[in-house]
Amino acid sequence: MSDTFVLDVTRIRDEARQKMAAGPVTGTYGLDKNRVIGILNDVVATEVVCWLRYTRHAISATGIDRAQVSAEFTEHAAEEMNHAVRAAERVSQLGGNPDFDPATLVQRAHTDYTAPADNDLKAMLENNLLAERIVISSYQEIIRWLGEQDPTTRRLMESILEEEEEHADDLIDLLGL
Ligand SMILES: [Fe+2]
Ligand SMILES: [Fe+2]
Repeated sequence: MSDTFVLDVTRIRDEARQKMAAGPVTGTYGLDKNRVIGILNDVVATEVVCWLRYTRHAISATGIDRAQVSAEFTEHAAEEMNHAVRAAERVSQLGGNPDFDPATLVQRAHTDYTAPADNDLKAMLENNLLAERIVISSYQEIIRWLGEQDPTTRRLMESILEEEEEHADDLIDLLGL
């Protein structure tokens, strides 16, 4: 039986040499690079808004379980900022400019910046659970769209998604649901 998958190493090597300036993006990249950069920059915006919301809640939380909930919000906030930086690094690897512009964060983010006026713990937990559920759905769709065409971006998004699911799970535990 013959193997129909034959790597044309000579052609791949030639193309790699000709387009050195394109960095890690080669001729085998299967997607519209600018579209992926745009989608990743919306992920950057989403993660920054999540960092803002969790940080605000961590500082303002009141109520009998304040210490425990605040510690969890602080931990989530740090992870959201890490997600933003990792998505921004991938934008840069793809030849784009990471977009942290505060003027457009709100329009680009998938989730809202919400802060309950009375700093009620339960309302904060519910706000964050809703945001995590939105992020989980939108990242799942991004991962499906990436498919097999950009495995590195897909793995990045899968690893972020895994942590968002943990966040949602932590919030459900704290809400006692
Ligand atoms: Fe995140
Ligand atoms: Fe999260």
